Amino acid sequence: MSKQNLSRRKIVAANWKMNLDIDEAAEWLGEVGPALKDDDCDVFVFPSSVMIGDLMDMYEGDMLVFGAQNCSHKDSGAYTGEVSAKQLASVGIELVILGHSECREHFGETNEIIKQKLQQAVQNELMPIFCCGEPLEVRNKNEQKNYVKQQLEESLFGFSAAAITDIIIAYEPIWAIGTGLNATPEQAQEMHAFIRAEIAAKYSNEIAQQIRILYGGSCKPTNAKELFACADVDGGLIGGASLNPKDFLAIIRAL
Ligand code: 13P
Repeated sequence: MSKQNLSRRKIVAANWKMNLDIDEAAEWLGEVGPALKDDDCDVFVFPSSVMIGDLMDMYEGDMLVFGAQNCSHKDSGAYTGEVSAKQLASVGIELVILGHSECREHFGETNEIIKQKLQQAVQNELMPIFCCGEPLEVRNKNEQKNYVKQQLEESLFGFSAAAITDIIIAYEPIWAIGTGLNATPEQAQEMHAFIRAEIAAKYSNEIAQQIRILYGGSCKPTNAKELFACADVDGGLIGGASLNPKDFLAIIRAL
């Protein structure tokens, strides 16, 4: 996978979360794999860690890149149940989602822990997708920019300019995840432009223009086109709709 983001090549990524067993995943791969042509975008898939290796072996094309849904903030040691970034890299995995709101909510991941996870990923040459986004009560108070700014500052902005360009950001407003209620294109564009402006202020405009910012939250075939048409939306991180091969392919075509 190319780490050159200079043209901000678009991305469609499937986050399966804790869904699909190996037979269902193989069926998905059998349908999606052969349908992928050179779509002029990167296509990523994030299955549960336990089956990534088998799926990589099964997949015969070169369009899909496989990634993990999380990794430990520790290097190695007595952390039962955890998987390290080094272990992921050692089996050929190139990508990892970090800071997903579900991990923040259910496993108490803080901005500081997520920063340490990002460090692990970067050190082991995994490309992270760093997720940020506000809950409904914050949106209702119109404080989403301050909220996301704090997430960026506390987890991301300690990285060097060289490291930051290999990090993908996903803006996922929590109120839109799994609810069927997506952000409007105007809301998405406003937040993506804000995130890019924050990167420009911290690093440089040149770096900000290279970083890919994905939208996530109830993205589906019926709204993907208008969301992806926004100037600062560089693709999508898709949950529910990615489980259905036809819907996922339709979202790729929407690019
Ligand atoms: P949904 O597409 O199901 O809303 O999930 C989005 C998401 O959390 C992707 O990481």
